[in-house]
Amino acid sequence: MATLDNPFTPGFGQVPPFMAGRRYVIENIEDAFVNGPGDPNLTTIFTGARGTGKTTLLTLLADEAEERGWITARVSSVPGMLEDILQQAARSGSHLLAQEQKARINSIGIGGVASLGWEYADRNNAGKNWRSRLTSLLDELEPHGVGLVITIDELQSEFDEMVQLASVYQHLIAEGRRISLLAAGLPYQVSRVLNDKSISFLRRAARHQLTRIPDSDIRVALKETIEAGGKQITDEALFAATRAIDGFPFMMQLVGYRMWPKSNGNRIDLNAAKRGIEAARYEMRSNILETTYMELSDGDLAFVKAMLPDKDVSLTADIANRMGKSTGYAAQYRRRLLEEGVIGERGRGKVGFELPGWRDFALEKLEEEDF
Ligand SMILES: Nc1ncnc2c1ncn2[C@@H]1O[C@H](COP(=O)(O)OP(=O)(O)OP(=O)(O)O)[C@@H](O)[C@H]1O
Ligand SMILES: [Mg+2]
Repeated sequence: MATLDNPFTPGFGQVPPFMAGRRYVIENIEDAFVNGPGDPNLTTIFTGARGTGKTTLLTLLADEAEERGWITARVSSVPGMLEDILQQAARSGSHLLAQEQKARINSIGIGGVASLGWEYADRNNAGKNWRSRLTSLLDELEPHGVGLVITIDELQSEFDEMVQLASVYQHLIAEGRRISLLAAGLPYQVSRVLNDKSISFLRRAARHQLTRIPDSDIRVALKETIEAGGKQITDEALFAATRAIDGFPFMMQLVGYRMWPKSNGNRIDLNAAKRGIEAARYEMRSNILETTYMELSDGDLAFVKAMLPDKDVSLTADIANRMGKSTGYAAQYRRRLLEEGVIGERGRGKVGFELPGWRDFALEKLEEEDF
């Protein structure tokens, strides 16, 4: 019997064969690509904790945009971003752009050390230059009815090129250009970016927070992925897996990926699920939980510790009490942890942990450190 390829995608930013949830946000932005200029969702910022699917969503949406006749430039917030946008746009639109235009973009791009030095020597001039280069690219696309989608991953604050981009983008939108900006970042990075006065325009962007995915959506996507891959899963295995995944996209891929080779024949039974879950938990710890834990301050950890006595959901008032602090004091750590994606709101004045396995992990860590 030939072995079936594992259909799960636990690599970062890989678009899975079946997305769990996220249906409406995807649909709304797809509609925006059809509606064109004026649709507010053409400028959208996604926030979410590690492993919630930001990169995946940007990739998927850029692919969808291309299918609807847009060209795309897919970049991250790293030095050289502006240049990268032009190069990628030129490549993506090469079938439409005149030869001369392509050469111009490329020659400026490969201008090397001299042009770099000049750019830094005269920032304003470089900014203007970039704007006119982008504008002439859009000019050439316009007769074809084609627009440009820019996706920016891993938004970072205090990044000059982002300031420049936001200012140029604002003008292009005002001119009614066919252009779209989809950006993503960790919540605290995004709030820092939006608090930067020079980028205030982006505060008007549509915001979308990638939170936990409902169990019912996880169950469906898990089953579909397995069946489309040529295997079956028993109901009890599906139930156990969904529970362990706890609404977290990266965990869905880990659990699925690890259960797959453990199947009994082509059937993933409870035993296979349990073994897969165990392996996935281990990876989840090293990939997500450890990294997140390292970023927390003592105040954050005190808040986390004060949540542990509750079974599932904690009242903010109880947490403050256990911390021996005012609710106002506790509130600042509540906000920080919400932004880190460690906790999520569970109704008025209530919070719960967002990351699967976090409770046991935190308990163990805090004990180990005698916190
Ligand atoms: N809606 C979804 N359904 C199922 N799996 C998903 C979904 N979205 C993302 N994934 C999977 O989750 C994993 C993490 O996705 P991704 O790398 O996009 O997260 P991220 O938010 O960009 O994380 P980071 O902050 O670390 O960059 C990937 O393995 C991806 O295939
Ligand atoms: Mg990412």
